[in-house]
Amino acid sequence: MITPVLLCGGSGTRLWPLSRKSYPKQFVPLVGEETLFQASARRVVAPDYAAPLVLTNSDFRFIVTEQLAGIGIDPGAILIEPEGRNTAPAVLAAALWVEKTDPDGLMLVAPSDHVVPDAPAFRAAVETGAEAARAGKLVTFGITPDHAETGYGYLELAEAPDMSAPAAMDLLRFVEKPDAATAEDYVASGRHLWNAGIFLFSVRAILDAFRAHAPDLIAPVSAAVEAGRPDLGFLRLDPGAWAGAESISIDYAVMERAGNLAVVPYGAGWSDLGGWDAVWRASGPDENGVATSGPTTAIDCTNTLLRSEDEGLQLVGLGLENIIAVAMPDAVLVADASRAQDVKQVVSALKAKG
Ligand code: GDD
Ligand code: MG
Repeated sequence: MITPVLLCGGSGTRLWPLSRKSYPKQFVPLVGEETLFQASARRVVAPDYAAPLVLTNSDFRFIVTEQLAGIGIDPGAILIEPEGRNTAPAVLAAALWVEKTDPDGLMLVAPSDHVVPDAPAFRAAVETGAEAARAGKLVTFGITPDHAETGYGYLELAEAPDMSAPAAMDLLRFVEKPDAATAEDYVASGRHLWNAGIFLFSVRAILDAFRAHAPDLIAPVSAAVEAGRPDLGFLRLDPGAWAGAESISIDYAVMERAGNLAVVPYGAGWSDLGGWDAVWRASGPDENGVATSGPTTAIDCTNTLLRSEDEGLQLVGLGLENIIAVAMPDAVLVADASRAQDVKQVVSALKAKG
């Protein structure tokens, strides 16, 4: 059995003002009608998959149940993290939880804020990686890079991958978030793929990897799961034990350190919607590069995103070039498109103002 593990704890500040701390981007219909979280859950509903295990925090737990009910999906379990400790403790908690019922099974760990439009192709890629995962490999999914992004992990292969007939290949190295010069070298090499942030492994292999590479996480996270309290259909991990777990991502804690990594190249479309530029691209801009959503009017605009999230607010662009404009009932962002990645500074600046 494959148990999907949906990670649902991030706050997505680069998509302000749509993505808020109390209602982050994965719960908003950013592209299409369903929210990213709903689409992520639906993507892993298939006969050979168990019900999804969701890891989130108490602020989001009712949004999670409501949004799953809205599309008729029953979660297998929802684990509540007392506070965000990044993805390594979350994945370890998930592995210890799945071990109780399916110790020989596989886990498919996926973020809940990505766009992966072709669900059948995605499940086929998982199928491609399943044999390597059963053999004890930690399987990643690799995306052909199109720019020297420093916010991603890079997967180093021995040779350029064949994207048209993908097979699981061994990885030479995993490098999380390299600096800009290194990222440029990687993109130029043709032997590096972006890490999609989606992982497939057996419960056994990931527990072994944590024991070998992040042994200090085992005691606090095991204790947090064992002392977890059932609460209104959720399992609330024990706060005291959880507080003892280091806050670190699975990429740094395990993937950069492990030697038994494999990759399935994935070419059927992926975006992590890491900023408004990515949303613009994923929204299918017209021949002038204009993408709109909600009550908007674009006149003589090029390479512009206009988005009004308020039914009563008409957003009009006249003669705009390379502009991102997003209107909410209580806040409006107007930004140069080249500054899309800096929107997280807006959130820090507003926080500093109080
Ligand atoms: N439950 C839970 N708890 N989920 C979390 C937590 C947490 O404490 N922290 C982050 N997440 C969720 C986020 O909501 C997101 O869905 C996923 O885990 C990945 O976390 P990010 O914080 O978005 O990671 P990243 O984007 O910096 O990097 C990862 O993704 C890239 C691709 O998008 C890495 O895996 C990179 O190597 C990868 O390239
Ligand atoms: Mg991310």
